[in-house]
Amino acid sequence: MSGTTQKTVTITLDGTNRKLTIPLMSGTAGADVFDIRKLYNELGVFTYDPGYGATASCESKVTYIDGDVGILQYRGYPIEQLAHHSNFLEVCYLLLNGELPNKAKADEFTKGVMHHTMLHEQIRSFYNGFRRDAHPMAVMCGVVGALSAFYHDSLDINDPESRRISAFRLIAKLPTIAAWAHKYTIGQPFMYPRNDLTYAENFLYMFHAVPTEEYKVNPVLSRAMDLIMILHADHEQNASTSTVRLAGSTGANPFACIAAGIASLWGPAHGGANEAVLKMLADIGHVDNIPEFLSEVKDKNNHAKLMGFGHRVYKNYDPRAKIIQQACHDVLKELGIEGDPLLDLAMALEKIALTDPYFIDRKLYPNVDFYSGIILKAMGFPTSMFTALFALSRTVGWITQWQELIQDPEQRIGRPRQIYTGPAERDYVGMADRT
Ligand code: ACO
Repeated sequence: MSGTTQKTVTITLDGTNRKLTIPLMSGTAGADVFDIRKLYNELGVFTYDPGYGATASCESKVTYIDGDVGILQYRGYPIEQLAHHSNFLEVCYLLLNGELPNKAKADEFTKGVMHHTMLHEQIRSFYNGFRRDAHPMAVMCGVVGALSAFYHDSLDINDPESRRISAFRLIAKLPTIAAWAHKYTIGQPFMYPRNDLTYAENFLYMFHAVPTEEYKVNPVLSRAMDLIMILHADHEQNASTSTVRLAGSTGANPFACIAAGIASLWGPAHGGANEAVLKMLADIGHVDNIPEFLSEVKDKNNHAKLMGFGHRVYKNYDPRAKIIQQACHDVLKELGIEGDPLLDLAMALEKIALTDPYFIDRKLYPNVDFYSGIILKAMGFPTSMFTALFALSRTVGWITQWQELIQDPEQRIGRPRQIYTGPAERDYVGMADRT
C-alpha cells in the first residue's frame, strides 16, 4: 500500500495493559488516515462510524475533494478548468485512464464509445414491461441491470479487455436507455442513436427528436448538456459510488453494480435532490413565502430541509454550484427566458439562506443540485428526468471506481461490523406460555 508515513498513533485500552501502535497513512492531499485493520485482532474492538463520516473505505487515485475550501479535481485537474476547456468524452477518458488523451487517442476513444451506443434490439421489448407512468429511474435500474442478460461476452471481471468493453458499453448505452425511458413515458417512437453527433448532441437528439421532423441541436444547449455531464462525472466515495464499490467487492458483474449505483443515487438526500429542489421552489411559490419556509426548515420538530443546500463533504460553496449557476444564466438568456420566476426565487432563497445564522453556523452552502434543476427545466427536461440525467453522467465515475476496485490488490469483500444492542441470548418460549 502506498502512502504509509513514519508517524504512528498508540491506543491503550483503558483498564488493561493492551496497546496497539497504529500506522498513519498520507495521500497526495487531504487528511491523514489511521490504518486500523489490526484493531480487532489485537485489541478485540471495532470502530463506530455511522455514515462513514470519518472512515476512508479505499485508496483512490481518481477524484480529490477538499470540502473546507470547495475544491474538486478529477485526476488532479481542477473542475473549473475541465468545465472551461474540456468536453465530456475527454473527461471520460481522463477518469478511466488517468491522463488526458492526445488527439489520436481521443479520436480512437470517441469512436470506441460511440460504436456501442445502440441497444440490443430485444431490449426494446423490455420497456413494454413497464407502466407508461414508471419513473425513469425505475426504468434505468431495471434496464441497466438487464444489460448483463444481453452482453455475456463482457462479464468476466478478471479480464481487462472484458472490463474495457463493459465500460464502453455502459458509457455509450446510458444515454440511449435514459432517452428511451422518456420516449416510452410520452408514447413517442424510440429514436436510434446517431454516431455522427457528439455525445451530448446525440443524447439531446434521442431525447427531443421525432422521426417526422428534422431536429437541429442548439449548440448552446448541447454545450450546457456537456457541461452538466462533466460536473457530475465523478465525486469520489459518495453514497452511490460506495454502493457500486460494495456491490463490486462481491465479484458482481459491472452492469449489476451500476444498476445498484443508480438505485442508490435515486434518493432525495443524494441525486434525487435536483428533482426535490424544483418541487420545493414550486411549493414556496413566491419570494414573500421564503421566511415562513425557512422557519419550517429550522424547526427541529419538522423534517423539512432546504433542498440543494448542505453536503457531507463541502462545508463551503460546492464548486460545481458556482459553475452551474453561471451556465444557468447563459442558457436562460439563449432561450430568451428573462426573469424566470423559479430562478429569481432560487436566487432570493440562496441570498437569504446564506445570511441566516442557522445555515452559517452549520456551514450549509448551495450544492450542485440547487441550480441544476432550473437549468434542466429550462432545457426542456421534465422533472422526473433530472436524476436520470445525473445517473447517465455519473456512470463514467462509477465504472472508473469499479475498475480501480477490481485492480486493487488490497480489495476484499466489503463487510462492515456493528455494535449489537438487541436482546441478550434467551430461551425460546412456546406459544402457550407467551403473554
Ligand atoms: N436544510 C436544513 N438543515 C440542514 C440541511 C438542509 N438542507 N442540511 C443539513 N442540515 C442541518 C442538519 O439538520 C443538522 O442540524 P443539527 O446540527 O441542528 O442537527 C446539520 O445541518 C448537519 O447536517 P447533517 O444531517 O449532519 O449533514 P449530513 O452530512 O449528514 O447530510 C446532506 C448531508 C444529506 C446532503 C444534507 O445536507 C441534506 O439532506 N441536504 C438536502 C438534500 C440535498 O441537497 N442533497 C444533495 C447532496 S449533493 C449530491 O448528492 C449530489
